[in-house]
Amino acid sequence: MKERLQKVLARAGICSRRKAEAHILAGRVRVDGEVVATLGVKVDPACQQIEFDGQPVRLPEEKLYLLLNKPRGVVCTLHDPQGRPTVVSLLAGISQRVFPVGRLDVDTEGALILTNDGAFAHRILHPRFEIPRTYRAVVRGMPKASALDRLRHGVLIDGSRTHPAKVRIVRRLAGGCELEMTIHEGRKRQVRKMCAAVGHPVVFLRRIAYGGLALGGLPVGHYRMLSPQERARVFRKDRW
Ligand code: URA
Repeated sequence: MKERLQKVLARAGICSRRKAEAHILAGRVRVDGEVVATLGVKVDPACQQIEFDGQPVRLPEEKLYLLLNKPRGVVCTLHDPQGRPTVVSLLAGISQRVFPVGRLDVDTEGALILTNDGAFAHRILHPRFEIPRTYRAVVRGMPKASALDRLRHGVLIDGSRTHPAKVRIVRRLAGGCELEMTIHEGRKRQVRKMCAAVGHPVVFLRRIAYGGLALGGLPVGHYRMLSPQERARVFRKDRW
């Protein structure tokens, strides 16, 4: 993202913005090898080389936290050998490298956090915090109370039992229904496997919330920045 040259110098801790203006006018600053001695020039520090008195200007890495509404058909890996679109292709305007916190299947839509803050990501994924993930799943057939209870108390998938889940029927549909499920684990294809295990395969899956962060009206394929308050809310149990 482009920003004023004096702001970049100040962010790099070289001097105040006002002093930076004086340094620019004095010809002490170069951008891509050329002296810039006028004010008002905008630069993109992610892809331009900025020097002060011949020394490269290095910015502390800005921490970014995004919530993306991932569409179906888009993969969470940063590169896909099969050439499918990746979540990174949806991040227009973001020049830093961010990575997804956990995964959504290629055929699942919904809330995905991306960041370049490894400690934040590690904390979210750590089982100790038991961050809830809430899904809406369209399944085949109408689960009986016994099937819902099995989902709530835990079903065996891949040789181990799932932790307790919250499950409710949201609405009936032709040939099936929509379930809302909240789980606290991030096992591979967990919701699909749980529903299949009780005889109700998933035909459509969307994650609507992660911790206290709901998609709300965020359109599919769009992202928004998370505020510091929202980041804190991910870990606050009273907000789930
Ligand atoms: N459970 C699934 O089955 N798929 C996902 O993408 C996430 C949870």
